[in-house]
Amino acid sequence: MKFIKPILMAVLAASAMAAHAKYNGEDRGRPVMPSVTNAKMQAECSGCHMAYPPGLLPAASWKKIMGGLDKHFGTDASLSAADNKEITDYLVKYESNRWTSNAAPLRITDGEWFKAKHMGGEINASVWKRESVKSPGNCSACHQGAEKGDFNEHNIRIPK
Ligand code: HEC
Ligand code: HEC
Repeated sequence: MKFIKPILMAVLAASAMAAHAKYNGEDRGRPVMPSVTNAKMQAECSGCHMAYPPGLLPAASWKKIMGGLDKHFGTDASLSAADNKEITDYLVKYESNRWTSNAAPLRITDGEWFKAKHMGGEINASVWKRESVKSPGNCSACHQGAEKGDFNEHNIRIPK
């Protein structure tokens, strides 16, 4: 009986983590992101910008993005059918519906919530024009832990 308890505890902890990794509507407005990674996505989606954590968009957005990689924001980012499926499955599994509308934007930066946090607030408009920032989608320019899904306000440094 001695080791049954630790095993049971480990199983319970693992299932609690699994439940936690899947975010639904309830995380709306909260800064928490799942820091899960997928090697294929890391390899295929980080060449032109950071590999965005899947919790940044709802499943419908990821499906649209992955369904149109041949015309991806003016570039061709298409993949083999197998790679596309693996990455789509991963993104959909860890998606999150944190946005304030039911829309499925192609851009994280088009989300209502993103705009509320970043535009017209404490970030001066001139910051977005800096060479070190380039684009609102360049999360890691300011969020030190962006690639790990960490957007905690204590880990923000706006570059000069
Ligand atoms: C060949 C280069 C390239 C590759 C590879 C690529 N992207 Fe992109 N992606 C872009 C460009 C260019 C933009 C638009 C950047 C901008 O306007 O700031 C973009 C923007 C995005 C955005 C919107 C960011 C925002 O502004 O909110 C998402 C989401 C995205 N890409 C996901 C992916 C995923 C998922 C993959 C891997 C399957 C991928 N990208 C691979 C070039 C690429
Ligand atoms: C120019 C710098 C900059 C860029 C680029 C940027 N952010 Fe932010 N972000 C900030 C600042 C500053 C705040 C704090 C705003 C506030 O609390 O009012 C913030 C807040 C946030 C928060 C809320 C954090 C909290 O604890 O409330 C999240 C989540 C977030 N950003 C995600 C993103 C994502 C995702 C991207 C890329 C698609 C991104 N940010 C790009 C500067 C930036």
